[in-house]
Amino acid sequence: MAKATLIVDKDFQIAPVDERLYGSFIEHLGRAVYTGIYQPDHETADEDGFRKDVIDLVKELNVPIVRYPGGNFVSNFYWEDSVGPKDQRKPRLDLAWRTLEPNEVGIQEFARWAKKAGSKPMMAVNLGTRGVDAALNLLEYCNLDTDTHYANLRRSHGDDKPYDIKLWCMGNEMDGPWQAGHKTAKEYGHLAAETAKAMKMMDDSIECVVCGSSSKYMPTFGSWEQEVLEEAYDYVDYVSLHTYWSNMADDTPEFFAQNIDLEEFIETVIHICDLVKAKKHSKKQINLSFDEWNVWYHSNDQDDKDMKDRPWRKHPHLLEDIYTFEDAIVDGLALITFLKHADRVKIAALAQLVNVIAPIMTEENGKAWRQSIFYPFYHASKYGRGISLNPVLRSTSHDTSAHEGVTDVDAAAVWDEEKQQLTVFAVNRCLDQEADFHIDLRGFEGYTLSFWEALESDDLKAVNSAEEEKVHPIQKEGSGNEFRLAPASWNVFVFKG
Ligand code: AHR
Repeated sequence: MAKATLIVDKDFQIAPVDERLYGSFIEHLGRAVYTGIYQPDHETADEDGFRKDVIDLVKELNVPIVRYPGGNFVSNFYWEDSVGPKDQRKPRLDLAWRTLEPNEVGIQEFARWAKKAGSKPMMAVNLGTRGVDAALNLLEYCNLDTDTHYANLRRSHGDDKPYDIKLWCMGNEMDGPWQAGHKTAKEYGHLAAETAKAMKMMDDSIECVVCGSSSKYMPTFGSWEQEVLEEAYDYVDYVSLHTYWSNMADDTPEFFAQNIDLEEFIETVIHICDLVKAKKHSKKQINLSFDEWNVWYHSNDQDDKDMKDRPWRKHPHLLEDIYTFEDAIVDGLALITFLKHADRVKIAALAQLVNVIAPIMTEENGKAWRQSIFYPFYHASKYGRGISLNPVLRSTSHDTSAHEGVTDVDAAAVWDEEKQQLTVFAVNRCLDQEADFHIDLRGFEGYTLSFWEALESDDLKAVNSAEEEKVHPIQKEGSGNEFRLAPASWNVFVFKG
């Protein structure tokens, strides 16, 4: 039997959880936008053509920020073609996903959609094929209230009030040779610095995210962050991290140990930020924006076949991973890891939100439905707001094919002082053993269990569909502070004071 104890104390705090940790991502890719968030002929479409069934699910997830419009897509994005009267908009070639972009949805629509979904855009500018000029014009269009060309252009398009977008990504994955307009670290660092500098000259209320590596497995990982930050440190606020996991080898114990590498990735990037800070004798701290994370591999073969003839198409089915029960556990472990680093990871974006490696799927002529990975995100977004605590975890452990001493249980704790609510998220990583889990609530006198919800399944490969939700939270019976976690389970304990 696996065994773990979590000692939780109010006085041991990591940091307040930035609500932007529960962000997500909509890219012009596959069916994320068209037949995803936007489908004017769908039975639930509103007056703007947005699917209300999708908006309802996004609201359920309570996503404070949504990154837009890419991803790789942004590196060849001509924002001017995506605004103004729809009948005058120019279709474009999207080089990233070899797709015909009709520009029926653009900056204006996305700003409107985000508002309806209770979210705010995290806007990316094109630093692939474009630069400072296009970024400044877009910022003026979005945020300025002046009597000047691009602010007036927005007004002439019917949007009198600026969108007031606070968070801006300086391009996307510019270390990747696949990127249109890929650059060396020095070239990119300089361009990102100049762009962020000029944008802040126009609107000093914004924050800027500079591109880190597109994964920790890039050959330039580490040196890329250092060189880019040496150029851009003074002008940017966050550095981005991206990670996608897969279980190609069908080695689930190893799959469940991925967040150990995630932790190492986060800590390495923190060290590099602080190294550059020290070298510059700066007082400013750069934080982390983990703005792409998820499991991504189920759709690879299908997408490879699909892209073979490289046809130009409109909103093709791409990256439509159907997620398993075990994928939900991996996403839960990632959320636990982000919470443990809430002092430096201030922003994160589950990639993505609808249809494309997403918690929400849509049928073109039917309903919107929740994938397995919907639930850990839902739980964390709903109950993981407050102060991330620094609990002591003592757990039995096991070895996996690539990791030694993997704790059988992993956990994080968040205290919402105002609501007098303490939440513990816990995963039992063992596939065939229950885990006795003791939560030592020292410092939380008077707190008692309000409820315990879990994701459990006998079938690691169970998936949801539009017809059947096989993976969904169940209510667990429990009281006191001794619990028995099912093998391979995600657990949420909510205590009230
Ligand atoms: O999220 C899918 C893609 O993954 C994004 O466009 C890109 O940034 C990353 O490589």
